[in-house]
Amino acid sequence: MDTKQIEETNHLKEDVYTLAMSPLIATALNSMLSFDVPKLLETPKSIDELAQATLSVKHKLERTLLALEAFGYFSYDEHSKTWSNSPKTSLFLDKNFRDAIYFCCVPFQYEILLKFSDALRCDQSSCYLQFGRNIYEELSQRSLDKNYFHTGLGAYTKMSGDALFDTITLTGLNKVLDAGGGDGTLLCELAKRNPNIECTVLDIPSLSELATKIIESYGLQDRVKFVPGDFRQEIPSGFDCILFKQALNSWSDEVVIKILENCYKALENGKKLIIIEHAVVKSDENYREVRYLDLMGISEIESRTRNPEEFKMVIEYAGFTIENIKRLQGQYMFEAVKSA
Ligand SMILES: C[S@@+](CC[C@H](N)C(=O)[O-])C[C@H]1O[C@@H](n2cnc3c(N)ncnc32)[C@H](O)[C@@H]1O
Repeated sequence: MDTKQIEETNHLKEDVYTLAMSPLIATALNSMLSFDVPKLLETPKSIDELAQATLSVKHKLERTLLALEAFGYFSYDEHSKTWSNSPKTSLFLDKNFRDAIYFCCVPFQYEILLKFSDALRCDQSSCYLQFGRNIYEELSQRSLDKNYFHTGLGAYTKMSGDALFDTITLTGLNKVLDAGGGDGTLLCELAKRNPNIECTVLDIPSLSELATKIIESYGLQDRVKFVPGDFRQEIPSGFDCILFKQALNSWSDEVVIKILENCYKALENGKKLIIIEHAVVKSDENYREVRYLDLMGISEIESRTRNPEEFKMVIEYAGFTIENIKRLQGQYMFEAVKSA
């Protein structure tokens, strides 16, 4: 090998080594977020001050920060002997970004990966092999992780901002159901922008407390309510529009068709179905993120991410007519209608 080839190989090895180190680095970062270190470092602090504020063993905290600094997280000034945020850790001062990242690196995420190799050799997810339950059933038993998960998803929704909320057109509609609506963030944002609509979040019973809290925090309890249920069994009737956001990729084609047939039964002719989901398209700029999300169909719950054509097929199979497909904020929005 010549010098150039050796250099290229070394770069590749460096990349692979960084990837292999990332679970521990991400866990260390997660601990710093749980101690609110970025917030504490809005004004520079000595290690003694930080150790006291975070109730940490000083030398362990210092070693953690030094390792993270080597990866670009946090910054130490030799001169003043104080720690401050680096450009990367300053990002966490934005609460939505912090919450969205936080749930990606909580230790629970590693627990469900323990059986990943075994999951490749059977038709169960890694989470199911580890706990005997899919991720939603497992989270319903863990209040802290459940809150991190759903607060993270709510934050991810909020980060999409107006570009998402203004694209979901609800003009002329009175009653909207968000099926698998999680903590209710999407419906509250939509209700804020559409003062005439009444909204219902349908999700599994364990989401009731969190969703009610979020709805109250928006002051929208007179127009947004939470209904517990299982969309695989039944979808309540009486709505002008049923919405799903990131709620169908968790299920196999067979289950998605059953859920959409339940929607078909619940809606009257002319009423609307809106599905917002990540779809696999190799030329999209977020293809890598979507491939990562698809791996969750092996780790969290036995499912897979579809391409837009496959989505069209399941929507039409359930009896709906597709009126429009739009790309928004890295996802696809399928608008369909129940026709006679
Ligand atoms: C990936 S999360 C998406 C949440 C929300 N729509 C969002 O975009 O942030 C999927 C949601 O489906 C809910 N879910 C899972 N199984 C369900 C079921 N059988 N019936 C109703 N909701 C369910 C989960 O609790 C979770 O809130």
